[in-house]
Amino acid sequence: VNPSAPDPSLPIAVFDSGVGGLTVLHECLVSLPEEDYLYLGDDARFPYGAKSDAELRECSERNTRYLVDRGAKLIVIACNSAASAGLETAREIAAGSGVEVVAVIEPEAEIAAAITDSGRVGVLATRATVEGGAYLRALGRQHRELTVTQVAAPDLAAIIQRGFPFSESVVETVRSYCAPLRRAYVDTVILGCTHYPLVAPMLQRFLGRQVRLVTAGHALAATAQRLLESGGIAAPDTEEGSYRFLCTGNPASFRELGTRFLQLPLGDVELVDLRT
Ligand code: DGL
Repeated sequence: VNPSAPDPSLPIAVFDSGVGGLTVLHECLVSLPEEDYLYLGDDARFPYGAKSDAELRECSERNTRYLVDRGAKLIVIACNSAASAGLETAREIAAGSGVEVVAVIEPEAEIAAAITDSGRVGVLATRATVEGGAYLRALGRQHRELTVTQVAAPDLAAIIQRGFPFSESVVETVRSYCAPLRRAYVDTVILGCTHYPLVAPMLQRFLGRQVRLVTAGHALAATAQRLLESGGIAAPDTEEGSYRFLCTGNPASFRELGTRFLQLPLGDVELVDLRT
């Protein structure tokens, strides 16, 4: 047992700019049901996808510091935009308390490279994630010749965060994001923003049945499990764990939207002030 390892009874902390990370939290709740969870939605600073790399590093640093100080045994960055620029920063901060950080991006790249038949892979993500190039780097590490088509979807996370009204204009916006991926004949599309699995049915319709959609949740939960086990910090008992929610913006709307997305009761959402 590592004496500097965090207390196994602490929760796993998950953060995102809003409700998108709930798609990742859900996978963790299913895969690691005995763990406790603390979820932070930084909705006061939504959208992360329009921020610069420096701003994303700052957000990742602030969120990580807050969650580690509050008490967490593992940090999960459930936001591609934050992970694309802020993963290293978050790791440096958390390492000071012996806490590891797992994040989206690498898991989806590994899955996409493993399942694509044609080697033509699409990435649909926020502007920050596309421009930061983290997926190009992660896919480039996969020991396979891949042709990658990236599409920035600047409005999609915001549409979802508003509760995605299924209007014609939303449908046209989503259709237009899918068009370059269809033209590139990709057979696999990484949903490179944790908000997007919430509109997977619409994306699947515009991309076609043969296209496989890749999300982070399952693989990320498996990585978290490996780390907890190898670090000897898995939950000490086998009873079902608890979860609770923090947000920086509007607890009432976070709760309303989050409940619809997670399809589980959120309980009280605590407002936290993360200004430094
Ligand atoms: N869910 C976030 C992501 O994965 C970003 C949405 C946003 O804040 O722009 O990129």
